[in-house]
Amino acid sequence: MTPETQRQRAPDSNAPRRTMLLTGASRGIGHATVIRFSSAGWRVITCSRHPFPEQCPWGAGPEDHIQIDLGDRADTLRGIAEIRERLDGGQLHALVNNAAISPKAAGGGRLGSIDTEMDTWEHVFRVNFFAPIMMARGLIDELKAAKGSVVNVTSIAGSRVHPFAGAAYATSKAALAALTREMASDFGRLGVRVNSIAPGEIDTSILSPGTEKIVEEDIPMRRLGTPDEVAKIIYVLCTETSSYVNGAEIHINGGQHV
Ligand SMILES: NC(=O)c1ccc[n+]([C@@H]2O[C@H](COP(=O)([O-])OP(=O)(O)OC[C@H]3O[C@@H](n4cnc5c(N)ncnc54)[C@H](OP(=O)(O)O)[C@@H]3O)[C@@H](O)[C@H]2O)c1
Repeated sequence: MTPETQRQRAPDSNAPRRTMLLTGASRGIGHATVIRFSSAGWRVITCSRHPFPEQCPWGAGPEDHIQIDLGDRADTLRGIAEIRERLDGGQLHALVNNAAISPKAAGGGRLGSIDTEMDTWEHVFRVNFFAPIMMARGLIDELKAAKGSVVNVTSIAGSRVHPFAGAAYATSKAALAALTREMASDFGRLGVRVNSIAPGEIDTSILSPGTEKIVEEDIPMRRLGTPDEVAKIIYVLCTETSSYVNGAEIHINGGQHV
């Protein structure tokens, strides 16, 4: 078997190897998602603002990482063209729109609807909302060819005022939840399922000091979630177990929303 054929097949089977594109893979939930999919034999193409790490923690090569600033429209379009070139089989089985930003005020305070600068608001929307639809539209042929699945990562902050997540972040996630509904209708007709997951307080660097209080008072399970507990659900939404799930938003928050 040539190295190229080997690369296209899952390690322990004769099935063709599946490919996922994941935005924001360098840490947190994205990082756990790469581990989950690559250990199941998927080819994972990642993108983020930073270059490929010299010590790649999941054993991929730099050919599967693309440096993109999703806050920059022209750079996002350039990145999409590069991704299409790298999808040599022409199929994309999963697109996970995970990258996001959540800016804070000086000193780490919450940026509310009165004090968020419009430039900040627009930047948040470019990364958190416009990039996901640009990615999905730009890769629509490859998703269709694979009858693939899109997962948009929203947030508990998209449906309630959160003590730390700011107004721009919250509204971008609410918009992404609405976009998931629209996409489930439009892409669903093409055989591509689109769902979202809404994490609550997951143990990553995005959390603010003071989250312990939310854990004590608002989360019935009285603990943070782990990145892998989120990655597992993303995996389910990209595989056969969820073959008739389309347009859903799954809460992953230990019951914080109840
Ligand atoms: N952690 C939580 O408790 C929680 C709760 C609710 C929702 N979420 C959502 O879950 C997702 C992941 O969260 P996380 O906590 O794992 O976040 P994180 O640790 O802050 O990671 C964010 C990722 O996005 C990438 N990124 C940021 N700006 C980018 C840009 N302009 N262009 C390209 N990539 C960019 C970052 O990579 P670079 O820095 O290399 O660009 C990084 O890999 C986000 O959508 C977040 O809103 C998280």
